[in-house]
Amino acid sequence: MKTEVLYSGKAKTIYKTDNPSELIAEFRDSLTAFDGKKKSEVAKKGYYNAQISKKIFEMLEEKGIKTHFKKMESDTEMLVDAVEIIKIEVIPRNIAAGSITRKYPIKEGTHFTRPVIVMDYKSDEYADPMINEDIAIAMELATPEELKQIRSMALKINEILVEYLDQKGLKLPDFKLEFGRVNGEIVVADEISCDTCRLWDKTTGDSLDKDIFRFDKGDLTKAYEEVARRIVPEIFE
Ligand code: CDP
Repeated sequence: MKTEVLYSGKAKTIYKTDNPSELIAEFRDSLTAFDGKKKSEVAKKGYYNAQISKKIFEMLEEKGIKTHFKKMESDTEMLVDAVEIIKIEVIPRNIAAGSITRKYPIKEGTHFTRPVIVMDYKSDEYADPMINEDIAIAMELATPEELKQIRSMALKINEILVEYLDQKGLKLPDFKLEFGRVNGEIVVADEISCDTCRLWDKTTGDSLDKDIFRFDKGDLTKAYEEVARRIVPEIFE
């Protein structure tokens, strides 16, 4: 049972429930890019992202990775553990795209011989600046032990996701993870969806993710539906 709104973000609304250790995350159709400067509403986006994220969380849990996901409350809402969010965006990168190609002399499409883990400080005020482990420790965002575990979980999740998505005809250039603390454990929080992953069709190379919105590359609902057809075919039956 959802009660009051705890927090309303750019793409999801988080509600309290009558159980203090559980929250409900509602995936909305709104989306933003470029630090909130570009905004829009796209039909069915929340639905597809919720379903894709659910399937990926369940798949990760089966492989022994702990997540905040508990169950779906509706087509667009998930019941999750109330976690203490660690304010670090952890970005595993396999193929160069986006900010790394703007900040460094690295060409888009470069395949990294080993995954690159980038960490950004999650802060709208500071525009998510890149940090390293020492800065994270100095800011007391996480302990050295937690950072070690986060890095190891991020690498493991990346390995699992690259293989899983490859079987669905999708390349995973990069994606963003958030972690939280609950009952003394580190778990994957937030979402893993077309909004938080770069996904390229293996044959055509087309973007099937939020880059369509960022760079006006076409029909976002159609692209997210295509990803949903590959990852959650059961919702189309
Ligand atoms: O997306 P942009 O090029 O501005 O930033 P990036 O650092 O290249 O993003 C790397 C990956 O993390 C992409 O898959 C983004 O969609 C994702 N990301 C995100 O989900 N949320 C953010 N606040 C930043 C990046």
